[in-house]
Amino acid sequence: DAPGMNAAIRAIARSAIDDGLEVVGIKGGYSGLIHNKLIDLSARSVSNIVYSGGSFLFTDRCPEFATPEGMAKAVETCKKLGIDGIVAIGGDGTFRGATDLTRKGIPCVCVPGTIDNDIASTDYTLGFDTAMNTVLEMVDKLRDTCQSHDRCSVVEVMGRDAGFLAQNAAIATGAEAAIIPEDQTDVDQLATFIGRGVRKSKNSSIVLVSESKKDGTGGAQYYADRLVHEYPEFEARVTILGHLQRGGIPTANDRILASRLGVAAIEALKDGQRNIMVGVKNDQIVYVPFNKAIRIDKPIDRELINVLNVLSI
Ligand code: F6P
Repeated sequence: DAPGMNAAIRAIARSAIDDGLEVVGIKGGYSGLIHNKLIDLSARSVSNIVYSGGSFLFTDRCPEFATPEGMAKAVETCKKLGIDGIVAIGGDGTFRGATDLTRKGIPCVCVPGTIDNDIASTDYTLGFDTAMNTVLEMVDKLRDTCQSHDRCSVVEVMGRDAGFLAQNAAIATGAEAAIIPEDQTDVDQLATFIGRGVRKSKNSSIVLVSESKKDGTGGAQYYADRLVHEYPEFEARVTILGHLQRGGIPTANDRILASRLGVAAIEALKDGQRNIMVGVKNDQIVYVPFNKAIRIDKPIDRELINVLNVLSI
């Protein structure tokens, strides 16, 4: 789930209904297709969800869908119910499932929804803006206590193996550093960043650390332990924001993005497009084949790294 998904469900359902199509909602993602959990959607049944977080249709990680048996059951449900096309909302796992379904003759179009914003072919994914604003709210509060105690607050931010959330939130919170997988910072560099501030009589530091962990290294606790071990003059406290980042009322940006992508997804299905993701690039709707959308790694913007470095002096 990601904030903004309900606004997307509303947009998909209403624009399809407006085109004279019948719409069902699949409950619990692909698992709902396997276990035949579908509900009729009307223009009214999606009323008053544009502003709610979570997913009104629920969601599930569904390993069964990746098995031939699971896929066969899903295809059978589609055939039995006469489903002519599916709009799936999610990240790369969702895209892979949709690719397999399309191969089996069920046309799919995807809307990118993940707080990680790690899909290269779109500038933004649903939920990223809301999650970032949640991080800002939490870190602003941490700054108060951190400043009172003259401490370093090491905050772990979600994003799986991508640093977009950590990097952007670091700039917006005025953090001293961001540790992201795309630009590995070692503990000496980190101490230099913090020490630089201390020497300039800053009395608190905030470091945002991406949750990405490899070979037992990474994450906020790892960096805080190493920092305090090697530089005992720093007093550090760790905060892991966790799933708080996935909840909450979607921001205006996420609601508008969800509404645009939902309408564009139905346009695409009507035009006979399949196996594509609907995204947004330079504020324009784009249609990108799944294989391209999944394949390319999204690079972090080096300009953002520079901005943080320059502004954290
Ligand atoms: O992909 C979204 C995300 O919230 C990641 O940032 C995080 O690593 C992961 O999902 C957590 O997954 P789960 O909710 O299954 O624990």
